[in-house]
Amino acid sequence: MASKTIYVLNGPNLNLLGTREPEIYGTTTLADIEAATKARAQELGYAVEFRQSNAEGTLIDWVQEASAKGAGLIINPGAYTHTSIALFDALTAAKPPKIELHLSNIHAREAFRRHSMTAAAVDGVIMGLGAAGYRFALEALKSLIESRTAS
Ligand code: DQA
Repeated sequence: MASKTIYVLNGPNLNLLGTREPEIYGTTTLADIEAATKARAQELGYAVEFRQSNAEGTLIDWVQEASAKGAGLIINPGAYTHTSIALFDALTAAKPPKIELHLSNIHAREAFRRHSMTAAAVDGVIMGLGAAGYRFALEALKSLIESRTAS
């Protein structure tokens, strides 16, 4: 049977959400986002593997796991967005539909954040919509998964 699990992967410092620069990232914690993401996924008919790591290699292992076992993948690579060719390569190799997500609008911030190393390896990017972006990413991913299954 086709996988009904969506992997939601979060990169460095996102464990600090709630207290980390709340004027940029808001006051919602990662645990709150996890609960809301799982609830919305359940409504959409999916289970969620929701994870966070500060380590680049761990995120790469999880992208590979998502490729092997997941129906789709949402990733907020944190600062690795701007630096990681290794994550770009892992995402390029990953077969299921995939979405990059940022709480903030990286184009409206410092110059060093305006380039995403990873965005060219995913189907779409959602940014600047805060914690609600995770919900929008799930909805977008569901339609990507379904349109790919139908074709
Ligand atoms: C972020 C944006 C990145 O530039 C930053 O390094 C993060 C969070 C976001 O969600 O807005 O850690 O990915």
